[in-house]
Amino acid sequence: MAADLFDYDAELSRYNARLRAAADVGTGDRVLDIGCGTGQTTREAGRSAHPGSALGVDLSGPMVDRARRLSEEEGIHNVSFERADAQFHRFAPEHFTLGISRFGTMFFTDPVAAFANIGSALRPGARLVQLVWQADDRQEWSSAIRQALVGGKVPAGLGEDTFSLADTTVAAGVLTAAGFTAVDITEVREPIYYGPDAVSARDALFELRMVKDLLADLDAAATARALDRLLAMLDAHDTGEGVWLDSGAWLVTARRH
Ligand SMILES: C[S@@+](CC[C@H](N)C(=O)[O-])C[C@H]1O[C@@H](n2cnc3c(N)ncnc32)[C@H](O)[C@@H]1O
Repeated sequence: MAADLFDYDAELSRYNARLRAAADVGTGDRVLDIGCGTGQTTREAGRSAHPGSALGVDLSGPMVDRARRLSEEEGIHNVSFERADAQFHRFAPEHFTLGISRFGTMFFTDPVAAFANIGSALRPGARLVQLVWQADDRQEWSSAIRQALVGGKVPAGLGEDTFSLADTTVAAGVLTAAGFTAVDITEVREPIYYGPDAVSARDALFELRMVKDLLADLDAAATARALDRLLAMLDAHDTGEGVWLDSGAWLVTARRH
């Protein structure tokens, strides 16, 4: 997944509350946050875990740098961040008492091996609590943005990894094969936020890989038309309290065997 500094914290604010409640980080926990991005979930875990700790790992150097900076600015000293590939990173064995992820675990090339590696970092019996996207056709944000940018004809195949755990049978099978038990998958439907108004939302979306990919092959005139359609779509979703698009996720919990 390409690195971008899109404001996921704003976008995912409703989901964040759901993940926080499900993770229920306790005093003394040692939390591993997988694909932590700029680290909001890691910092929140660190606050709740104190005097425990939280480690956030992410592939993206700029994301990790920003996560470190934000935790310093907020004076949170029991969190740390590593630029690492969670699929292969050699974590301290059986160190963590809880694993969490907010949409950071769908991008593995070999998901069973990746979750087995993550499992080896968790203490036996530790919980793994993740949010993953439901299928593309359950996401207004995805279909509306794509249709606006390509004029109604949605190309197949773009960003498929985003939805790699959307099939609950696949998600449960991957976790079980990776050595997790007690897999539980619950539907969560929340709107996601793109900005205070359509222009801000369009400018924010411009940062996303999906949008860059969809615009990549268009000439200047076609790009201008696509951005006009995007603006009109976003304007139609301005609720008066910002631009929100509907979405669906799975809250996936499991225990390390
Ligand atoms: C959709 S973003 C979510 C970021 C963050 N969890 C949040 O909610 O703001 C997915 C993140 O997963 C990271 N990522 C993807 N594959 C990864 C891997 N194999 N190891 C570590 N991080 C990964 C990406 O760099 C990206 O920051």
